[in-house]
Amino acid sequence: MGSLDGKVAIVTGGAGGIGAGTSRYLADHGAAVVVADLPDRAPRDLAAELANAGHQACAVEVDITDEAQVAAMAKAAIDAFGRIDGLHANAAATHLVRRDGDLMDLERSVFEHAFQVNVIGTWLCCKAVIPTMVDQGGGSIVATSSMAATHAGFDKTAYGTTKASVAALMRTVATQYGKRGIRANTILPGLILHDQGTNLMPSAVKQNVLDQVLTPDLGVGRDIASLVAYLFSDDARYLQGQEFAVNGGMTVHSPGLAGRANHAP
Ligand SMILES: NC(=O)c1ccc[n+]([C@@H]2O[C@H](COP(=O)([O-])OP(=O)(O)OC[C@H]3O[C@@H](n4cnc5c(N)ncnc54)[C@H](O)[C@@H]3O)[C@@H](O)[C@H]2O)c1
Repeated sequence: MGSLDGKVAIVTGGAGGIGAGTSRYLADHGAAVVVADLPDRAPRDLAAELANAGHQACAVEVDITDEAQVAAMAKAAIDAFGRIDGLHANAAATHLVRRDGDLMDLERSVFEHAFQVNVIGTWLCCKAVIPTMVDQGGGSIVATSSMAATHAGFDKTAYGTTKASVAALMRTVATQYGKRGIRANTILPGLILHDQGTNLMPSAVKQNVLDQVLTPDLGVGRDIASLVAYLFSDDARYLQGQEFAVNGGMTVHSPGLAGRANHAP
């Protein structure tokens, strides 16, 4: 028996780094999983891997900025599994981050593209699943935001701004649809290592983050996936409209202590 037996979950960006981890984890814990991603991330390959391992899974190729495609994603979930209990709204235009610098240098097209995917796309996904969840009597939506939503830097102007909007959107879903059984929460990851990008960061960058977190190791996909699974489960029935920072405590200590935690007794 898995904690998510009988539940149906859609994971957007479901074949990406964090998303693939969530797709696998949810399937391992009993959910039927719809792996939703852009065609070039080959969501069908991951769905086939899950199905071959004996799980219930299907793939949807979707660009979440296209409302018709997003509606077709929700329909595919219902056609395959009959219901939608969870949406992990995880897709984001992460490829833009390299061009997302200081606000004076940021190209308007980069900001607009980030907004289209990260905010409009997340909104469209909520819009597509909420009617089904309401008809069923409930559901759980979990968005992946970022530490960049709450902590600004010298770059990632569009990323941080749009990720803050994602958290606001979840609070709005909770406020408008909570009484109809829908819970909406936000995860704000710090650096999460995975084999589709962040593992490849220069070791100096990873070491810089490791010096600032209060855990022996950096985060990995499972650290996000396990929280998504919990938020999808009935055990989380009273968690509503919240933001969960999953960052090894990087944001809880005084800035001046960065790196010194390693030397604590
Ligand atoms: N890895 C980290 O350290 C980290 C930290 C904070 C937040 N995040 C957030 O976690 C989420 C996953 O990031 P990741 O690290 O796995 O990166 P990733 O690039 O592997 O995942 C992003 C996914 O979104 C998909 N995507 C992008 N545009 C899309 C579109 N228009 N339609 C459908 N899918 C689209 C990509 O194909 C990809 O699968 C993102 O929301 C990201 O902002 C990641």
